[in-house]
Amino acid sequence: MGKIGVYGGSFNPIHLGHIHAAREMADRLCLDQVFMIPAAQPPHKTLPAYSPTGGQRLEMVRLAVQGDPRLKECDLELQREGKSYTVQTLHQLKELYPDDELYLLMGTDMFMGLDHWYQSDEICRLARIVCISREEKDKKADLEKKAAYLRNNLKADVSILPSKPVEMNSTTIRRMIFFGCADDYLAEDVYSYIRQNHLYGADLDWTGLSFERLSARSLDLHKQERVAHVIGVSETAAKLAERYGARIDHAMRAGILHDVTKALDGPEQLCLCRHFGIQLTPFEATHPKLLHSKTGAAVAERIFGEQPETCEAIFWHTTGCADMTLLDKILYIADYAEPNRCFDGVEYIREVLYQDLDLALFRGFGMSLEELEREGKPLDRHSIEAYDFIKKERGFA
Ligand SMILES: [Fe+2]
Ligand SMILES: [Fe+2]
Repeated sequence: MGKIGVYGGSFNPIHLGHIHAAREMADRLCLDQVFMIPAAQPPHKTLPAYSPTGGQRLEMVRLAVQGDPRLKECDLELQREGKSYTVQTLHQLKELYPDDELYLLMGTDMFMGLDHWYQSDEICRLARIVCISREEKDKKADLEKKAAYLRNNLKADVSILPSKPVEMNSTTIRRMIFFGCADDYLAEDVYSYIRQNHLYGADLDWTGLSFERLSARSLDLHKQERVAHVIGVSETAAKLAERYGARIDHAMRAGILHDVTKALDGPEQLCLCRHFGIQLTPFEATHPKLLHSKTGAAVAERIFGEQPETCEAIFWHTTGCADMTLLDKILYIADYAEPNRCFDGVEYIREVLYQDLDLALFRGFGMSLEELEREGKPLDRHSIEAYDFIKKERGFA
């Protein structure tokens, strides 16, 4: 009797974290084979542009597992019409391999909801359940409680296997593919395939887009909760450009792109810095979350081919600097005071914004620096210089 692991997922795309988990489970459970099964996407669901087809996701799985005879791509779910139910997959596998034992592998989120799956009792009859728990993050007591419930009520054979987490998430990886630096997350052949087929928008010419297309692409790279802010900045920057005689198109484009890399965490920010050759100060190297203005400027320039003044405004939008251009000032203050911002003093800034841009900026810098001081956080040299410069130039007190 052989042992077969069943590992399903969207694999959009399959990444090194998936492969690591499959190999680890094969080792620990002495599995003869692990079937990696891409889930079908519902036919009625519209997918974002540049999404791979089911066939392409399967091909990426094939490329990722080649070289390890224990792992194998499996198209059972892609071949079936309509919604994919795990219970059907297990029935099919049982028919194909009647003498073998099935081990259904899943992460903790799936495991916690398993009893609500379609025919969960049948699933537990057909396969042993293996929950791959991320050692530090998962609440052990909750998992044990759920395991006890499944054993008692569904007669499930449940194992919880703690595993060292490989922190990778497909949404982040899709962003990194677009930014052109996903080498750390994907098997080499998978990444080559993605680039050749321009999946997730990789390696396409993104320069010279209309504002509408630029906006759509940019907003797609943001976390959903940041979208209103980014639109707010773009619209506010456009109004300020009109009021003060700057290029409205540049202001709108700077606004829509200014936080384009903000969804990325520290390690990804550092990866982008290496990719784009961005020099870091020792402070920046240890506070990489602050880097999105620099990486955002690099993306605006190198991927979207934006004008130098637009990229420069993005570069300075978090700190400001001495002797800012009109567009630098507009983007900085639009980011600070766009309509979705809510903090003490923002109403005052909004009031003076259209009367005296420098005064709004001076107050904005002053308030930010005060807040940082109050919180005991280090002050950025450029913000101090920006504040001092404007204070002296305009004679503000
Ligand atoms: Fe920002
Ligand atoms: Fe912002």
